[in-house]
Amino acid sequence: MQTSIKIKQNTFADDVTQGLSASPKFLSSKYFYDDEGSRLFQEIMKLPEYYLTRAEFEIFSEQTNEIFSAFNADDSPFDLIELGAGDGTKTSLLVDYFLKQNAGFTYIPIDISAKALNTLTAKFEKEFPQLRIQTKQGDYFKTLKTLGAKTSKKKIILFLGSNIGNFRQEQAKEFFTGLRAVMNKNDLLFIGFDLQKDPQTILDAYSDKQGVTDAFNINLLKRVNRELGANFDPKEFSHYAIYHPIEGAARSFLISQKKQTVFIESLNKNFDFEAWEPIFMEISQKYSLKMIEELAKESGFQIEKNFFDSKNYYADSLWKPI
Ligand code: AVJ
Repeated sequence: MQTSIKIKQNTFADDVTQGLSASPKFLSSKYFYDDEGSRLFQEIMKLPEYYLTRAEFEIFSEQTNEIFSAFNADDSPFDLIELGAGDGTKTSLLVDYFLKQNAGFTYIPIDISAKALNTLTAKFEKEFPQLRIQTKQGDYFKTLKTLGAKTSKKKIILFLGSNIGNFRQEQAKEFFTGLRAVMNKNDLLFIGFDLQKDPQTILDAYSDKQGVTDAFNINLLKRVNRELGANFDPKEFSHYAIYHPIEGAARSFLISQKKQTVFIESLNKNFDFEAWEPIFMEISQKYSLKMIEELAKESGFQIEKNFFDSKNYYADSLWKPI
């Protein structure tokens, strides 16, 4: 007989209730990415201030051959598994090159958004008709389980775009330890880290002049309006970002511009906001090389090779299990 373990997943409504009842208030950044949020994030990636995407793109386009050599050192077929694939722009550089090298691999993108996966698949099928592609829709943590079905085929897991930045350091360690548990000795993990740099450069990336980051944060309040029947007035909240150079953490808040009460219909609940009360929205952790080394070691990995952009703004770090 088969037994199954049920992991209770909080719903959007549960998490909103919990976050807005807490002191200080918070909302989880994992809810940014509904269709409108994903569209706004695409806009963020084009902003002059948002250097992260360009830095990682530069690494992928200028060092494709070195990345391929590091992935393919043993010349065995592999599954290229991407966590939080998004629009796949960076990965398409690798895929294109790998196909030209006749590498034997299957591309397996995993994303929470079905729409993002469909767009990605359509794009990749058109661009690379010969590519073997399998999609998996779901939460990173749930997919850990499917990855856990240990095949002897080599897995190369990609976690790009500084997505790890949304985890606090303890959570990052837990996440990688969890990944380590479903990896074999010859598997590899390739992670995009945004590096610590001039604090002003970092702060500017999270408080752009055009106000797209503001709209990206506000969209989560609009999402609560849309999905839970709330009456947030977006004009009465404004985005505020800080960077803490000792912790290396950028944080975003929405600040209530006045004393106000918001009613959320589907919860049948009121939430009171003081004038200038913040809602904590997001952490974007920046790493030093030392922090990356420590994180690797504490999660059961060693660094095989780091790839940097020309400004040393960003690192893609290749880890192998110890
Ligand atoms: C998608 C988590 C990498 O933290 O830089 C961009 C999200 N938030 N601007 C980041 C984000 C505000 C982004 N990550």
